[in-house]
Amino acid sequence: MSSSDTAAQRTTPADITAAVEASFDACADPRLREIMQALVRHVHGFVTEVGLTEAEWREAIATLTATGHITDDRRQEFILWSDALGVSMLVDALANLRPAGATESTVLGPFYVPGAPEHGYGEDIAVEPAGTPTWVHGRVLDLDGTPIAGAELDVWQNGDDKLYAVQKPDGPEDHLRGRFRTRDDGSFAFLAVRPVPYPIPDDGPVGRMLDATGRHPWRPAHIHMIVRADGYATVTTHVFDAASEYLDSDAVFAVKPSLQREIVPRGADDPERPEGVEGEWASLAFDVVLVPADEAGEPTDPGRTA
Ligand code: BEZ
Ligand code: FE
Repeated sequence: MSSSDTAAQRTTPADITAAVEASFDACADPRLREIMQALVRHVHGFVTEVGLTEAEWREAIATLTATGHITDDRRQEFILWSDALGVSMLVDALANLRPAGATESTVLGPFYVPGAPEHGYGEDIAVEPAGTPTWVHGRVLDLDGTPIAGAELDVWQNGDDKLYAVQKPDGPEDHLRGRFRTRDDGSFAFLAVRPVPYPIPDDGPVGRMLDATGRHPWRPAHIHMIVRADGYATVTTHVFDAASEYLDSDAVFAVKPSLQREIVPRGADDPERPEGVEGEWASLAFDVVLVPADEAGEPTDPGRTA
């Protein structure tokens, strides 16, 4: 046996991992070094743990390639992977550790478009009929229960066809979206429609993964909001219909018990029926509690306009 054949000179899987990790030792940026070395350890650990085959590795590369091909200005399949694997919610949870009593955050999702029209108290966000009119009302408060006047609620939701306005290029672009300001007593109200469950975009690689693994693409019914107020941390959240299907199996893991509210059916003869509403309607009460900006870390606000 030649000396080059001795076991001591064989390159093991662990040697490869160690060499790649060490290749970042001289990285001048300590945070980048930490991230890259942990990434190498975890990716190599994953490959080693499952004994990834060459065919499976090729399949993974094909999936990433397809993810790139389907992604454009309107479709972001990489974020959808992050959502469907719970990474978006994990990053959100780590960035937004709010004290008890504060409104919890959840995913932004792909259907938010900044610059929704400004509306007055109680106005309707439905440009065309889209389901049961639903009076959404509440107050924006601080942790002590003090009302916050002039807070902005940037809201968007789907209609009874399951779609958001941004998914319908031929429809009115400001349908089911709007920005509202709280009054002096912190109160807000708007006329929405009862949201319905809907599937996340499932005609691409993420959908194929859900199908192959026996998962469904559905999200429970919800209304999105981003709430902003000077001096307070912006919160990106949803209010969920507490009676919706899929609360226990949201495709993007974004349900939090504190964000579920009853949507109360109301009759046409109900004396509280909002102006302009005819027939059956519903109401939904939801208070938002904000924390001072300096107690919540650096908020991410995808749509601040001022
Ligand atoms: C949404 O709620 O709009 C959403 C969130 C994550 C993925 C897809 C949709
Ligand atoms: Fe949504």
